Order: sequence, then C-alpha cells, then structure tokens
Amino acid sequence: MTFIQNALAGRVALITGGGSGIGLGIAKAFAGAGGRLVLASRDLDKLEGAVSELRDMGAEALAVRADVRNFEEVEAAVRSALDAFGSLDIVIANAAGNFIVPAAQMSPNAWKVVIDIDLNGTFHCARASYEALKASRFGGRFIAISTTRALEGWPGCAHAGAAKAGIMSLVRTLAGEWGPDGIRCNTIAPGAIGDTEGAKRLYEDRGEASHQLAQIPLGQFGKTDDIAKAAIYLCSEAGDYITGADLVVDGGRERGHSGVGAPKVMARDRGRA
Ligand code: HXC
Repeated sequence: MTFIQNALAGRVALITGGGSGIGLGIAKAFAGAGGRLVLASRDLDKLEGAVSELRDMGAEALAVRADVRNFEEVEAAVRSALDAFGSLDIVIANAAGNFIVPAAQMSPNAWKVVIDIDLNGTFHCARASYEALKASRFGGRFIAISTTRALEGWPGCAHAGAAKAGIMSLVRTLAGEWGPDGIRCNTIAPGAIGDTEGAKRLYEDRGEASHQLAQIPLGQFGKTDDIAKAAIYLCSEAGDYITGADLVVDGGRERGHSGVGAPKVMARDRGRA
C-alpha cells in the first residue's frame, strides 16, 4: 500500500486499548506508516508484547499502564509520550468495554462501568491531551471509536450504545471548539470486525456469525486493518480538512437492511449487536 508509506512520518500517536484488537491493528498500521507509538491500557503485560511487535517492525514504541477511567493515569500517559518523544500529534481513544445483557437485567454498576470506560474514558483522553494536540506542528488529531449501532439503539448493549452516542456528540463538540486550535476531531464507526474479541463474543460465541455476514453487502467481515487504514487517512495530511466527521467502515452493513437487492433481514433483527 504505497499510498500510506511514510504518511505519518514524524508524528507521535497515543492509542488507548492499544494492546489488542482494533487498537493494536491501528498501532501496527501506524508503525508501518512511519509513526511513533505510545500504547496505553490496564494490562501492561499485553502492552509489552504489542510494543515488542512494533519494535520488530522498526518503529519506536512505548507501553504505559493506564486505566482510562482514571484521569490522572491518562494525564500521566500523555506526559510519558511528551517525555519520550517531545510531542504528541495523534490520540486514538479506542479503549472500550462491552458485554451483552438486556437493560431489564443490567445492574446499575454494569451500566456505570461501561459508561465510565467508553464515554468518561474518551473525555479523559481528550481533556488530558488538549494542550499537546494544540501544540502539534502537524495539526493535532483526536479520533474516538464509535459504532454504527450508536444512534439506532442497540438492544442487548444499552450501556455501550448510549456511551458511543455520547462519544459522537462529544467529538462533534470538540471539533467545533478545537478547530480554531488546528485540532481535527473525528470518530470512526466500525461495523463487524472479524478479528476482534468483540466480534468473537458478540457473534461467534452466540452462533450469530453467518446471520451477521448475510447483512453485509460486501460479503465479508471487516479486519482491524480496514479500521487502521481509515485512521491513517484521518490522521495524515490526507485528512487535513476533515473534522467533526463520523467515518463509517462497515462494508455497507448500515445500508444492507433495505432496498432493491439488499439481503433479507427480518425487522426484529434490525439494530442487534
Ligand atoms: C452481565 C456483567 C457482565 C456480563 C460484567 N458485568 N460482565 N453483567 N453480563 N457479561 C457486570 C458485573 O456483574 C458488575 O456488576 C459490572 O458489570 C462490572 O463488572 P467488573 O467485572 O467488575 O468490571 P471490570 O473488571 O472493570 O471489567 C470491565 C468489563 C470487562 C467491561 C466488564 O468486560 C472488560 O474489561 N472488558 C474489556 C474488553 C472488552 O469488553 N472488549 C470488547 C469491547 S467491544 P455488579 O452489579 O455485579 O457489580 C466493543 C464494541 C463491540 O466495545 C462491537 C462488536 C462488533
């Protein structure tokens, strides 16, 4: 993919939840595009493994333990990036938690935990990195991961759906407030990404994989690398004039529910995880 070679040369990116799944996919693609990486999550062991993979690719990379629910820990991760590399140009607020439980059975603590990780964690990342992103010589980039399920309701995942809808609103507000500082703020909405823990738990473990696949016009699950390429687009010079957008990367799933030639999907299945 020569079009993204060196696309991020000189840029420093902090990725939360960077030790696995979509976060690690973005980290690897950023490394291939010349970026320097700081990975943050609760699990330092997992991060160290990811960082050694990135170093094997020839990238400069650092692991920092931080729970995004804790603002001070996120602030410390931002400071680590600045101390190690002298700047911070990109923040990917990717860390998320989710599990399926109907709202009528969801404990208040289960609700709170997911809102804390997904929505509050995203705010913490934005708030802690504002000054650094403002100082970026490239024009800072703040990206959060949303979902195509956020605005249509997400039966079984009321907590994550509400958090992701909140994230979309937050990031649009930031685009308005931080545009004058040169900071581009966008969300990426993945559809069903096959090589992730989320897809395994939401689809495979529940015997839903073939049903889900039938709803995707492009006929295949996404890959973490598909999300990573969208992130490179938004975080490189190619994304200079894009802020306040929600970039859907879902193989057409959002459009696959209706219209001539669309896969047949029963009404009761619309909006399911
Ligand atoms: C019902 C559950 C539950 C489950 C936890 N809880 N799992 N309730 N069903 N499967 C409840 C607990 O009983 C508890 O409530 C409360 O949630 C907090 O649980 P803890 O285990 O104490 O929380 P914690 O250790 O902080 O773990 C956070 C977590 C966990 C979100 C629950 O799953 C996690 O860390 N996940 C991170 C990885 C992850 O989820 N990745 C997938 C992201 S996928 P009580 O009342 O008992 O105290 C994604 C998008 C999916 O975000 C898109 C798919 C394509």
